[in-house]
Amino acid sequence: MKSLVLIIALSLTFVITSCKSKTPPEITDQVKSGLKSDAQNFMKTLKGVLIREIESKGIINAVSVCSDTAQLMTNNYGVQKGIFIKRVSFKNRNPVNKPDEIESNALKKFEELKAEGKLNPETAYFETIEEEGVTKVRYLVPIILQPECLNCHGDWNAMDPEVKKIISDKYPEDKAVDYKVGDLRGAVSIEKVISK
Ligand code: HEC
Repeated sequence: MKSLVLIIALSLTFVITSCKSKTPPEITDQVKSGLKSDAQNFMKTLKGVLIREIESKGIINAVSVCSDTAQLMTNNYGVQKGIFIKRVSFKNRNPVNKPDEIESNALKKFEELKAEGKLNPETAYFETIEEEGVTKVRYLVPIILQPECLNCHGDWNAMDPEVKKIISDKYPEDKAVDYKVGDLRGAVSIEKVISK
């Protein structure tokens, strides 16, 4: 009996140490800057579509275009670039944009930094994960609310009734309102395979 316990203890030690000794590969500067520009391009494209729609068709049409475009880009943009890219928020409009555990940790860090006045354009969150023998990097950057976002994410009482109706119809569980300029709106979240 004693030896059985010893064997179990020894094999446990082995499992624990062998896990520990496998340090995840380092995230190189090249990977880091690549992820940064992927996140920037994604947001730039999305904002470009949004502004174009508002200017050409008005805010009412922009709501539905914006929502479809966002999900389409989430699906297509990443696939083209071999990455998975989306937007997440604790106060999400679309339930699919609810953060997972890693994304929640990153968002909490961003909130802390924001409260301390330390959030800046270089702020980013990195974590490597192992999934079925594949190493992936999880990368998040904060999204800050700008004046042009207020039409659809600002003070609910001051919003255009038609915009409100479209939003309530399409997103009955919407939490993404009552933001002010400068608030932390959420994050761009990227998942990329770095080694197999
Ligand atoms: C024309 C209305 C409209 C404007 C203007 C707008 N948004 Fe949104 N936003 C939406 C809609 C609709 C969704 C839900 C998209 C979806 O289905 O993924 C959304 C979703 C988001 C999300 C994803 C998280 C969530 O709540 O589901 C973020 C982050 C976001 N918006 C940030 C911004 C920022 C930053 C701006 C300003 C640069 C902005 N939005 C301007 C309509 C708008």
